[in-house]
Amino acid sequence: MAPELDEGERLSRPELQALQLDRLRASLRHAYEHVGFYREAFDKAGVHPEDCVSLADLARFPFTAKSDLRDHYPFGMFAVPESDIRRIHASSGTTGRPTVVGYTQRDLDTWADVVARSIRAAGGRPGHKVHVAYGYGLFTGGLGAHYGAERLGCTVIPASGGMTARQVQLIQDFRPEIIMVTPSYMLTLLDEFERQGVDPRTTSLKVGIFGAEPWTQEMRTEIEERFAIDAVDIYGLSEVMGPGVAQECVETKDGLHIWEDHFYPEVVDPLTGQVLPEGERGELVFTSLTKEAMPVIRYRTRDLTRLLPGTARVFRRMEKVTGRSDDLVILRGVNLFPTQIEEIVLRTPGLAPHFQLRLTRRGRLDALTVRVEARADTTPERRADAARSIVAAVKDGIGVSVAVEIVDPETIERSVGKFKRIVDLREARD
Ligand code: DLL
Repeated sequence: MAPELDEGERLSRPELQALQLDRLRASLRHAYEHVGFYREAFDKAGVHPEDCVSLADLARFPFTAKSDLRDHYPFGMFAVPESDIRRIHASSGTTGRPTVVGYTQRDLDTWADVVARSIRAAGGRPGHKVHVAYGYGLFTGGLGAHYGAERLGCTVIPASGGMTARQVQLIQDFRPEIIMVTPSYMLTLLDEFERQGVDPRTTSLKVGIFGAEPWTQEMRTEIEERFAIDAVDIYGLSEVMGPGVAQECVETKDGLHIWEDHFYPEVVDPLTGQVLPEGERGELVFTSLTKEAMPVIRYRTRDLTRLLPGTARVFRRMEKVTGRSDDLVILRGVNLFPTQIEEIVLRTPGLAPHFQLRLTRRGRLDALTVRVEARADTTPERRADAARSIVAAVKDGIGVSVAVEIVDPETIERSVGKFKRIVDLREARD
């Protein structure tokens, strides 16, 4: 099936780059002229928006960090009068102040357009029913998905997160083709289908659009097989817009096309800040090209990935995010991301896809315990085999020793939105 493309998606690469440069210059000017923080930061770095004459010149401009947004809580990063702000979202923030973001009407329109484009890239078409189980509220997931689905001409079922039994009922009764939800909450729904005696492979769902947290190819296979759907990845962050910054195309499932006509990506060395060549792994950095209310210039996402050339679209792709620097566990000098454990757990027979990582400290050494659920029919012997095989796979593949605890089905807390994969119990002692 030839994908239907919108105007931006039909640009050639040179046309796209010309558009990006125009928009980049306008965005730098807008930030400099209307946000005190950017004016100061550019002046201090000795750069002026007029210095940007090619896309590569962006590298001369200073970075923006999450802490800069926090320091200007709540509205200090806005570039338009408060009366022009139509919506506010905020990230919960586990510590301290939340990060606040604002949108003008035009920003909300752009956002709906890029989410509509994302849903279409996932296989959604006007007339489809979209069950939105991302949380509604200050989190951008629910409302972002909602307006994008409407913009595409879909029928939205605004389920939000939680009340899992009812979600399953609604999916059976309303028969949506598409579900938008975190991958971890999709697993919670899977349990509930089974608990209600409904074969999840028999639902009306054809496509799942999963994001807001890292998830692996192994998780894709698990979800696709258990539900008989296509599972594709959607990426975004509130500081840059919300969901719909990048999206995987269902026909290729080869990483996420970044909607580069609105969000300009760079990948930098997380330590030195140097821009890395295409294909090298590092920290993803975004500059907004069309945002009015809150332009962001070289915003450091802390997400680790690499840029790749476009395939199904003219836009460059980013590889599935394997983790964020915040989730990095350094265990006796060895770096480990929860997604590496996810790959191993999901490949081990006899286990359910539910696991959590517990970090503790014994003496001066950190220790990691992988707690993972057995499937209902797994015998004690097979549980012991599974534990041994995870220990060996982590030792061989990652190079560190961990403890593994296989627990009974339904022991591990279930996700209703973003799942907390790491339980850090280290502060608990002295
Ligand atoms: O999670 C926006 C979103 C909602 C994206 C629904 C996709 C679907 P924040 O709450 O600001 O916004 O969190 C942003 O979540 O920096 C990543 O670390 C992580 N993240 C988001 N999407 C993905 C993904 C939303 N597809 C942070 N894969 C980002 C991996 C993701 N991590």
